[in-house]
Amino acid sequence: MKNDAVQKIDFDDYADNYDAHLQETLKGFGEESAYFAEYKVRLLKERLEKTARAAPKTILEYGCGTGRNLTFLRAYFPDAAIDGCDISTESLKLAAKRAPDVRLFTLPADAPLRQYDMIFIACVFHHIPPLERPSAFERIYSMLHSGGEVFVFEHNPCNPVTQRMVSTCPFDKDAILLPPSELVMLTKAAQLKLLEKNYALFFPAPLKALRPLETHLGWLPLGGQYYVRAVKP
Ligand SMILES: C[S@@+](CC[C@H](N)C(=O)[O-])C[C@H]1O[C@@H](n2cnc3c(N)ncnc32)[C@H](O)[C@@H]1O
Repeated sequence: MKNDAVQKIDFDDYADNYDAHLQETLKGFGEESAYFAEYKVRLLKERLEKTARAAPKTILEYGCGTGRNLTFLRAYFPDAAIDGCDISTESLKLAAKRAPDVRLFTLPADAPLRQYDMIFIACVFHHIPPLERPSAFERIYSMLHSGGEVFVFEHNPCNPVTQRMVSTCPFDKDAILLPPSELVMLTKAAQLKLLEKNYALFFPAPLKALRPLETHLGWLPLGGQYYVRAVKP
């Protein structure tokens, strides 16, 4: 009998080549992979500043993988204590080299190192099987301080360029993309209060002159990715 179940990707198998695969996948957008990492961290910082939110003192990247975003979190939040966690121990070994001043722990074996003012999550939930997503959110909730916030970035399933990139990326074979409505529902089910839901990453490199418009386009469901921001009451 044919087994149609999606085999979960083990990122240990991709750790050494993660950056190369990602770079190959992203070339249609005309930017280096670092562009996407910095974009998200910069957006996070801008949103905190625009909403007069104090800079977080403790930050966790949940599903930090090989640490692409950690170096930018460190650069944009130099005074914060920054931790990362992942289920892939091989990815965490690379993250440790890339961001030596960040503390790392492995899920689900290790207990969290502390509670956090901010949890940043990028492109992780589409790798978590839908039935496991609520419990992942419960864990995230438990790691937040009261008043702490979570920023979750995800691929926009309605964007055709994103769809194409996901369909060609070797480590996205288990990807089940989730629409913003599902992420919003998950935050609410975890007793988090929704603060924002916005689309991002609209213009590839050939259209970079238009990027200053992006801050006004968050409502437009055409961005390559989107984010949901929520707070623990
Ligand atoms: C596409 S990678 C993204 C890594 C990193 N956030 C980035 O932007 O480069 C997805 C990561 O999610 C991790 N992951 C998958 N399921 C997870 C889970 N249930 N809990 C935490 N991390 C998970 C994988 O091990 C992998 O490192």
